[in-house]
Amino acid sequence: MIDLKDIQIKYGNFVAMDNLNLHINEGEFFSFLGPSGSGKTTVLNALVGFLNPSKGSIYIDNKDVTKLSIEQRKIGIVFQSYALFPTMNVYENIAYGLRVRKTPKNEIDIMVKDIARKVDLSDEQLMKKVSELSGGQQQRVAIARALVIRPKILCLDEPLSNLDAKLRVKLRLELKKLQKEFKITTIYVTHDQEEALTLSDRLAIFDNGNLQQVGTPKEIYQNPQTEFVQNFIGETNKLDGTLCKEMLKEYQLTLNETKPVYISINNVKTEKFEGCISIKGKVINIEYFGFYVKYTIETKEGLNIKFIQFNDTSYALEDEVCVYVDQAKIVQY
Ligand SMILES: Nc1ncnc2c1ncn2[C@@H]1O[C@H](COP(=O)(O)OP(=O)(O)O)[C@@H](O)[C@H]1O
Ligand SMILES: [Mg+2]
Repeated sequence: MIDLKDIQIKYGNFVAMDNLNLHINEGEFFSFLGPSGSGKTTVLNALVGFLNPSKGSIYIDNKDVTKLSIEQRKIGIVFQSYALFPTMNVYENIAYGLRVRKTPKNEIDIMVKDIARKVDLSDEQLMKKVSELSGGQQQRVAIARALVIRPKILCLDEPLSNLDAKLRVKLRLELKKLQKEFKITTIYVTHDQEEALTLSDRLAIFDNGNLQQVGTPKEIYQNPQTEFVQNFIGETNKLDGTLCKEMLKEYQLTLNETKPVYISINNVKTEKFEGCISIKGKVINIEYFGFYVKYTIETKEGLNIKFIQFNDTSYALEDEVCVYVDQAKIVQY
């Protein structure tokens, strides 16, 4: 569906993205995830046509669109700031793209009302000025405005970032539902890993102008391929190489003392299993999160290791605890 081939994007002399190759499947919910400044918006803007890559080509349905205008690419776009027309009413905002395309008036009316219903905007709200709506409602208008032109691709750049936490969760569920209903190929830019993991079929992780990893949420969560992804996704125990080697000296592990050793906290278990490595320590911290509890133990080498438990608090401070880790889950980069 979408192919980015050997893309480089520059701002003046600054290379914001380099050597990017990415394939996005038809109908896929695909996220760009990464910290602020990592290049997510840059790539999205090149895909949409706001920016010209300095190298490489962009294909949509095997057609080279690198030189095509924004309009010719038939992509619906939703930004973080809603970029609506504040003095027009909601109806006119949604209808705008259709009017530009010279759609007949009666068709516009049917299409606007139909899409408004799908994003949960009432007839009454359609007649209101955009400035009279809440942030969440405005974002619904922005989504309706993007979808009404029936794009083949929907691009959203941090669309929920300006909303409060509860509303974000609600709208992201609605968005996922809409995406399934329209079966529209969706590119979703976010710096929020929970959003990316819960929404996406697959995601790409960016850091500092480089693509770090592409995969399903599960693949990325369970097998971070780079040190950056290991640190960025989920929560990990980052341990000093020398001390870790000392702690695990009875096992036949090849560890490089000069590099940190990583054990994701979800890979630290409290029940023994075949072939596991055991680590002893004393509970030094307990954090109660409601449906899980996070413990920190300190080993005699002075290493702190965190793990979580989903049952009620079973350990107390100062308790001696043994935890178990799969050897393959002790990683270095
Ligand atoms: N218009 C611009 N001119 C110069 N540098 C820019 C411009 N837009 C973005 N950058 C730089 O490019 C890099 C990537 O930015 P951006 O794609 O906006 O990151 P993200 O969306 O991941 O936060 C950053 O270092 C940013 O400062
Ligand atoms: Mg951005």
